[in-house]
Amino acid sequence: MRLQGRTAVVTGANRGIGRATVERFLAEGARVLAVDLDVHEIGHLPVHRLAVDLASDDGPSRVAAEARALGPVHCLVNNAGIGAARSLADSDDALIDRVLGTNLRAVLRLTRDMLPLLDPDASIVNVGSAFGETGYPTSTAYAVTKAGISQLTRQLVADLSPRGVRINAVAPGVIRTAMTAARIDGDEAYRKAMVGGTPLARIGTPEQVAAVIVFLCTDEAAFVNGQIIAVDGGWLAARTHA
Ligand SMILES: NC(=O)c1ccc[n+]([C@@H]2O[C@H](COP(=O)([O-])OP(=O)(O)OC[C@H]3O[C@@H](n4cnc5c(N)ncnc54)[C@H](O)[C@@H]3O)[C@@H](O)[C@H]2O)c1
Repeated sequence: MRLQGRTAVVTGANRGIGRATVERFLAEGARVLAVDLDVHEIGHLPVHRLAVDLASDDGPSRVAAEARALGPVHCLVNNAGIGAARSLADSDDALIDRVLGTNLRAVLRLTRDMLPLLDPDASIVNVGSAFGETGYPTSTAYAVTKAGISQLTRQLVADLSPRGVRINAVAPGVIRTAMTAARIDGDEAYRKAMVGGTPLARIGTPEQVAAVIVFLCTDEAAFVNGQIIAVDGGWLAARTHA
């Protein structure tokens, strides 16, 4: 129970990495505001729920208003995101706007709106991607947003550290969730590159990412600041060739 009495806001909380993060926060004793487009799948969990489109104009401010009612926020997890397995040549305007709007614009706006609500000891964890740290032949718009998440993480260190607030990111490799299942099972090139290319030779789980996210919010990580922590089975460090 490392987070008893603390409040966490988690976006993209209805499933996948976000949902595993909510469950982990609850196990650590935190109070959770769970935010997603739809919050039905977590209807049974003892959390505050908010169904909102973070990419909409008033989405981030609605989350901040809801969080304000809960008192100081100790952990903000910017996890909501959408994938797009497209090369740039195959990315139309609508796709580019959708991916940037969800993965980057909404994160900038929500983080800004949450700044006044953060406890002096607060921790922000952004969910980036291994694709934000290296080139990969497809998913161009997506990878650019995730590189932006990494840079946002470094960028805010100078602003937040004088207040005592820490900010870090996790960069997951291949994790089986609704976002990736069809690609893992149906896209041979992706499977070879991601699963075959992972030195540990297996697919990660949402719980393995959630464990690192929640660790970064605890006092055990009190001197970890401005880091992009890969949770990727070694993929970024030494891609293997299947
Ligand atoms: N699964 C992987 O292999 C992997 C790898 C690297 C990074 N990531 C990142 O991890 C994060 C979580 O992904 P996941 O794999 O759990 O995917 P997921 O699709 O299972 O979950 C993403 C959640 O975000 C929510 N969401 C999307 N757009 C939203 C919006 N506009 N407003 C509110 N909620 C919204 C979805 O409804 C969904 O519940 C994402 O940022 C993703 O880019 C995932």
